[in-house]
Amino acid sequence: MSMLLTLAEVVEAGTKAGSPDLQQIFSTATYIIAGICFILSLKWLSSPTSARRGNIVGEIGMAAAIIGALLQHNIISYEWIITGLVLGTLIGAPLAIWMPMTAVPQRTAFSHACGALAAALVGTAHFYIAANVGPALDHTTMAILCVEVLLGALTFTGSLMAFGKLQEILPQRPITFKGQNYFNFLILGLALATGVVLSINPSMTMLFPLLLVLAMLFGVLLIIPIGGADMPTVIALLNSYAGMSACLMGFVLHNQLLIIAGALDGASGFVLSIIMCKAMNRSFTNVLFGAFGQLQTTAGGPGEKRTVRSGTPEEAAQIMEAAQSVIIIPGYGMAVAQAQHKVREMFDQLTKRGVDVKFAIHPVAGRMPGHMNVLLAEAEIPYDKLIEMDEINGEFPQCDVALVIGANDVVNPAARHDKNSPIYGMPIIDADRARTVYAIKRSKNPGFAGIENELYYLDKTFMLFGDAKAVVGELARQLTEGGGH
Ligand code: TAP
Repeated sequence: MSMLLTLAEVVEAGTKAGSPDLQQIFSTATYIIAGICFILSLKWLSSPTSARRGNIVGEIGMAAAIIGALLQHNIISYEWIITGLVLGTLIGAPLAIWMPMTAVPQRTAFSHACGALAAALVGTAHFYIAANVGPALDHTTMAILCVEVLLGALTFTGSLMAFGKLQEILPQRPITFKGQNYFNFLILGLALATGVVLSINPSMTMLFPLLLVLAMLFGVLLIIPIGGADMPTVIALLNSYAGMSACLMGFVLHNQLLIIAGALDGASGFVLSIIMCKAMNRSFTNVLFGAFGQLQTTAGGPGEKRTVRSGTPEEAAQIMEAAQSVIIIPGYGMAVAQAQHKVREMFDQLTKRGVDVKFAIHPVAGRMPGHMNVLLAEAEIPYDKLIEMDEINGEFPQCDVALVIGANDVVNPAARHDKNSPIYGMPIIDADRARTVYAIKRSKNPGFAGIENELYYLDKTFMLFGDAKAVVGELARQLTEGGGH
């Protein structure tokens, strides 16, 4: 609505002056188009069937936003902008093309670090231009600028820490020390106090570097006590901070599109982190301050000697071929092995034989939201066969075979009853309620939460040890060649 008013005002002002400022009108119109595209994109990205459309519309929106920004009158030199565009393309395009799917979480963290750094730098430049060249900033603008720079700087270092943990450059385990939370709050408090003093007296320029340093230090301290397992949630939260920073930057620069795009980014990142916390049955405070992700060594942990039963792909193929219903539960291991195309081959063979095959999708299977949906969509498995956890769980008691492919924590029954388990309370996929369970993984190693999985020790469970792509490939081969008979 405010964008429409702005356009109307521009036309009116231009017409009054006798010559409508076409460049400004065009720029504002592209901003409106971009804003609409971003909203539609978010809407369509929420379902696998419309996600591709959402992506394309988002890209069109971003192109419109860039064109609109380049048409702004206050741009006096295009050289630096073109240099930035070329540099950004040279870094971004290879990242998008060659980064493997399994590295998407750390790539996202790196992108947030870059975006947040840009927001912090724009705020910093705006502050120093106002201080040295003028006009001086009023108290409100200064307060907004301080929050923007604070969020941008802490998101920059925080995202770099998240990147380091996910890329295993830094230890994945929580790094903690005594009185850590108090110390962190002290640093945040000092940063906020510096911002308050600067807002009251913007001419105290020597305080600005202190604000930046404190914010960056807080970003590091905020992330190091969080375990690698919680990094995807943290990245969604950092995404939200970067969006809020961009939104505030829009207020400082009087740019409506930045306000809209930043608000959408901030809100969607926040909602996503809430969805992820819910799916893991964790609270925000527990994710941020709970130091989750240490290896569990208590009873039932990896130290206890228990035996599992191994199966063979031949037997598994026979059982599945004779089954009426098979539910496949994909997890992080399927992503690592890039087994989705072999899964598709096996799916085709089973459905050809009249077996009802469905996929049970856990909201936090893998390492990023929608990880399994993206991989299975890539292999062109029909969307209607991908069933969300809550919908499919009721079907397991009637299911003949649950085939777990590289999933671990999301099928661990300990989440239901073991109060000492770090995943206690996390909703899980009820694979253990199927008549027979086959589980594909390479070893007896635990999943991301670092805990044993009771499912593997049940009488009805047979392990198919090996790389998921190789094992599923063998299952598909057995079914194709009729080896399952
Ligand atoms: P995990 O519990 O991490 O288990 C993955 C299993 O895959 C491992 O046990 C591993 O066992 C196996 N594996 C690895 N490479 C393999 C390969 N090449 N072939 C076959 N198996 C392989 O995965 P999950 O069940 O998908 O659960 C996801 C975890 O991430 C949960 O703890 C969840 O809370 C956490 N998390 C996810 C998200 C999002 S958004 N997805 C966000 C935050 C946290 P081997 O090493 O023995 O092969």
